[in-house]
Amino acid sequence: MEKESLLLTIAVLGGTGKEGKGLAYRWAKAGYRVVIGSRFSEKAVTTASEIMQLLEGSSSVVGTTNLEAAQQADIAVLTVPYAAHRETLEGVKDALKDKLLIDVTSPLVPPKVSKVQMPAAGSAAQEAKEILGENVQVAAAFQNVSHELLLGEEEVECDVLVTGTSKNARTEALRLVEATGLIGWDAGPIENSVVVEGLTSVLININKLHGSSHAGIKITGVSKDS
Ligand SMILES: NC(=O)c1ccc[n+]([C@@H]2O[C@H](COP(=O)([O-])OP(=O)(O)OC[C@H]3O[C@@H](n4cnc5c(N)ncnc54)[C@H](OP(=O)(O)O)[C@@H]3O)[C@@H](O)[C@H]2O)c1
Repeated sequence: MEKESLLLTIAVLGGTGKEGKGLAYRWAKAGYRVVIGSRFSEKAVTTASEIMQLLEGSSSVVGTTNLEAAQQADIAVLTVPYAAHRETLEGVKDALKDKLLIDVTSPLVPPKVSKVQMPAAGSAAQEAKEILGENVQVAAAFQNVSHELLLGEEEVECDVLVTGTSKNARTEALRLVEATGLIGWDAGPIENSVVVEGLTSVLININKLHGSSHAGIKITGVSKDS
């Protein structure tokens, strides 16, 4: 990962879905080369061309299978439902060797998605680390940002908490948070992802009670400059 930031290729695995498409749009808009991954390459190609249309062709977005996307990636981002988390990671594990994976997953267990239900590993991000092994760095981010905010043009008030297996993993992930136009915070080691992932169910509760669909969190009392 020693390339100039904007020369990096970001693969969004499951990027045909709601959250992945929104993140891919933001990174493509920022000038990154983005590869949309899917179980079905035609579906990924369609999503890639939709994003290109949104950006009036001024970006580089292509679509292919999750495996090929992971192979092309400098950094891979995982945006599939928790039910598909393990299977998707096992399918791309070898292609992610010596790379960074940013896991966006909250381990929601339908139908009780407003109740925190963590996996045995502690969190989805820790499970990703267990599956991928020592050769892959893992960060976790964006779990509390609704997809509805990502495809819009308005400023997103919600902050992003970033955890990761190393300082370097968190720094790289924070750079990609900044590229989306959101404010990111180093929230510490990957073990802390349990709190961030759990917050998603808390926010779903708040959404339900108050008729919203994109409640978020904001860090207060601290300045980025200090
Ligand atoms: N939606 C949000 O606002 C939001 C916000 C924060 C975090 N997240 C997290 O982001 C992740 C994705 O959420 P989403 O709402 O974007 O999900 P989604 O739209 O339902 O699915 C995303 C993609 O995952 C793949 N997928 C779906 N079911 C699958 C299965 N059974 N096996 C393999 N692949 C499957 C599909 O891609 P292909 O069919 O193309 O393979 C799909 O387009 C989740 O872990 C969620 O917790 C979501």
